[in-house]
Amino acid sequence: MSHTADLWWKNAVIYCLDVETFFDGDGDGCGDFRGLAQRVDYLDEMGVTCIWLMPFYPTPDRDDGYDITDFYGVDPRLGTKGDLVEFLRLARDRGIRVIADLVVNHTSNQHPWFQSARSSPDSPHRDWYVWRDKPPADGPEGIVFPDQEKSLWEYDEKAGQYYLHRFYKHQPDLNVTNPVVRDEIVRVLGYWIHLGLSGFRVDAVPFLLETDGALGADDLPDPHRYLRDLRAFLSRRYGEAVLLGEVNLPYPDTMRFFGDEDGDELTMCFDFIGMQQLYLSLARESAAPLAKALEERPIEPKDAQWATFVRNHDELTLDKLSDDERQEVFDAFGPEKNMQVYGRGLRRRLPSMLDGDMDRIRMVYSLLFSLPGTPVLFYGEEIGMAEELGVEGRNAVRTPMQWSDDHNGGFSPADPDQLSAPVVRGEFGPANVNVVSQVRAPDSLLSWMKLLIRRYRQCPELAWGRYQVLTHDADTVLAHRADQDGGTVVALHNFAAEPAEVTLRLDGLEPDDRLVDLIAGGSTPVEDGRMTLRLGRYGCRWLRVLKRGEVFVP
Ligand code: GLC
Repeated sequence: MSHTADLWWKNAVIYCLDVETFFDGDGDGCGDFRGLAQRVDYLDEMGVTCIWLMPFYPTPDRDDGYDITDFYGVDPRLGTKGDLVEFLRLARDRGIRVIADLVVNHTSNQHPWFQSARSSPDSPHRDWYVWRDKPPADGPEGIVFPDQEKSLWEYDEKAGQYYLHRFYKHQPDLNVTNPVVRDEIVRVLGYWIHLGLSGFRVDAVPFLLETDGALGADDLPDPHRYLRDLRAFLSRRYGEAVLLGEVNLPYPDTMRFFGDEDGDELTMCFDFIGMQQLYLSLARESAAPLAKALEERPIEPKDAQWATFVRNHDELTLDKLSDDERQEVFDAFGPEKNMQVYGRGLRRRLPSMLDGDMDRIRMVYSLLFSLPGTPVLFYGEEIGMAEELGVEGRNAVRTPMQWSDDHNGGFSPADPDQLSAPVVRGEFGPANVNVVSQVRAPDSLLSWMKLLIRRYRQCPELAWGRYQVLTHDADTVLAHRADQDGGTVVALHNFAAEPAEVTLRLDGLEPDDRLVDLIAGGSTPVEDGRMTLRLGRYGCRWLRVLKRGEVFVP
């Protein structure tokens, strides 16, 4: 039933942020929990219902915090555990849940566990990692950061052996075939849930479950069993806790991570395939690639959900497109080598890729909120922030939040050299793109986002319902409908700069039904279940079917 909020993740609005670059509360140049606490009302007013915190744990910071030295701590640059708990309490008071990155595929090589493991074969932590005398010929394949790493195995002088690292060599993989490691990971989950988190974004899930390189693989014959155990544990401790998984695989493989038909593994999986096809649709000004993805996307278990997104904190990965398709997207949205990364993705944000074309940017976010699933925003998307290509690698999109056109974009009073990350320069910098100038401007992107979020929350059909891609004869337009408990919402999106006209057939309508426009207002009559609708350049429309006597309160 969509009328109950028990399955809160089904139609949440998730907002991902890095405490380090959000707001500096103590003036030292680094964002912190005190700063974030001051901005909770901003997120609440926008309509965010769940905050996803990127890693905030102690770290040497060689992979922006995805290299952890203490799973039970808070990076002192971001504040104390007390500050974290104060923030959690404040968020809860506003009805906002908080989840955090769970990065347990690996640790930092500075982690005391790894330091102990390498010190001696007799160390109690030796088997917490994956060691070999020689890199095996049949180990796992695929290097994640091919520009910087040449192998998945690194020789450690002190240990006298090679260790497995899926990501950078300073991130040794934990050995999840070791039951002691599995117990410790469960303890980490229990700890943060107890402090007030409502779940986790689980980093690198397929790699976490992979046991190819580990000698103890017999101890964990079915790695999915482990995911089921994690989920069961969480549910026992706190029924509403979620696991939102980073699984970038073809749809049938991703489906396995939801578990059985009742969904006993990940609560949510990101829709990486739909995201990549969205960019292909944008590049081609054709709805077909995205429509096909929606048709092929498997139906998630009843209580599970797909998480949809336009951009995240990493490169915009296009790894699941064919070489030619990827090249099309590169040509359209990131033709320069400096915009590309790892040969598979773009280190840009949407507004710059679309040359600041507001009609088009608005259309994309309208899609995000009307596509079936739970939308996940990356901080700054709501105001149209872009990247700073002067910053290395993926960090180009992780620049400070632009609050105002003041010093450092209002992020921090510190000297610009002291900032944890440089502020975007140029056209998309704080002088033109910031919260203060948009917050009360009815035509701003931020106001548009707020409207979309409100409508999305008012239309549970979109996230909960059965959806169907509607056929018609305008290739540039995606039309889909969502049905739930007798309610019907129809959304149309025009991928082209040319205006379009679409004639649709809607089955199951009564003679007196009409369609009310949820964005522009006004209504369209329906004749014999058919209607003709117009869309402007990159136009979008959301329509709700109203029965005779029904009203829609905006
Ligand atoms: C995930 C994160 C990425 C990180 C990597 C290693 O892919 O999204 O940012 O570098 O895992 O933890």
